[in-house]
Amino acid sequence: MDFRGLVLLAPLTKGGNLPFRRLCLDHGCRVTMGEMAYAYQVVKRSKSELALLRKHPDETCFGAQIAASRPGDAIAAGLAAVERGASWVDLNCGCPIHDIVRRGMGATMLQRPAHLGKLVAEMVKGLPVPVTVKIRLGWSEGEQNASEVAKVIEEAGAAAVTVHGRTREQRYSRAADWDAVARIAAERTIPVIGNGDLLTWYETHDRWQQSGVASVMIGRGALIKPWIFREIAERQAWEPTAEQRLGVWFDLAQKMKVHFRDDEKGRERAMRFLPWHFEFLCRYRPLSAPVYVEQAKAHPLMQTRFADDEADLPLLERVLRDSRPELHTRLADVLWRAADAAEAEARTLALAAEMPPVAGSTDEIAVAQG
Ligand SMILES: Cc1cc2nc3c(=O)[nH]c(=O)nc-3n(C[C@H](O)[C@H](O)[C@H](O)COP(=O)(O)O)c2cc1C
Repeated sequence: MDFRGLVLLAPLTKGGNLPFRRLCLDHGCRVTMGEMAYAYQVVKRSKSELALLRKHPDETCFGAQIAASRPGDAIAAGLAAVERGASWVDLNCGCPIHDIVRRGMGATMLQRPAHLGKLVAEMVKGLPVPVTVKIRLGWSEGEQNASEVAKVIEEAGAAAVTVHGRTREQRYSRAADWDAVARIAAERTIPVIGNGDLLTWYETHDRWQQSGVASVMIGRGALIKPWIFREIAERQAWEPTAEQRLGVWFDLAQKMKVHFRDDEKGRERAMRFLPWHFEFLCRYRPLSAPVYVEQAKAHPLMQTRFADDEADLPLLERVLRDSRPELHTRLADVLWRAADAAEAEARTLALAAEMPPVAGSTDEIAVAQG
């Protein structure tokens, strides 16, 4: 497996579910990653954790991500992923959430480079597929040790390292530091995969080229517009109409039906995901390069913290931009029950008439992972 020249779908807890990954494949994604699984839970054969390692046959290049602190757990979980078809295994060393950190996993690993090195070396020895590691720049702004950590990872035999250009404490409060990512790429021989704030095809190519990273990884950009992969490959924007976007949302609902099954139980399970996806999908705005580049200077995080200030939009467009959770729940139900795209559109418009849209908010998308 060569980790150069790739555009990877980031590991995304909840968001990177199998139906969503299939949607990304349909829109040009070639390399997918699963949701983070706790290695110790995989070892206990937890059904829900094992489900996170499952991939679709169409995912021909799939990386399973695990969180672990002990080599035994990491190897056993990695082998379970390989049995299920993973092309490689990634170790999470960036997750900032409390539950992970207090168990000595995720971003805590950044504070223990020697321990991390041993863990990665054991994984490399014990697994028949490449091992990669995903890190942040450090624990906090004052403790940025990603250079040292990336060196340890390379020396331990990892096949690549992904660098998310923020610290654990920054979460998403600052723009990703691509200068820091570039420095690490220059220092290392193994491929460095750059990650953070790649929200448009042109930024992706600019950052990729300027930083000298081997590959790039896309997280929220894909959650907002799953077709970003095709845009990056074709080097041009696709600015879908509201009807076309609703078609994409409907398609996701159909893929959830196939995955979770088209019955009441399946519907209940899908409803844990589908409305959640709409929180991201509703952020889409057709921002052409000149408009975006200019506005992003003043608001680097703007696509994830979008103020909805346009009046006089067509009804369907306004519904798709609406950020109210109660609307997302009802819309998910509409899309689940619609027989085809035309019925989905008619029912969405009927829902809009019942729930007159209001302007969206400027809230940041609340995410804690990664
Ligand atoms: C909803 C969500 C879930 C995430 N889950 C994970 C995860 O399970 N493992 C991980 O390494 N990073 C996770 N991350 C972090 C992303 O993989 C990525 O590093 C981060 O979002 C920065 O990339 P972006 O600016 O392209 O979104 C998650 C991010 C989001 C938004």
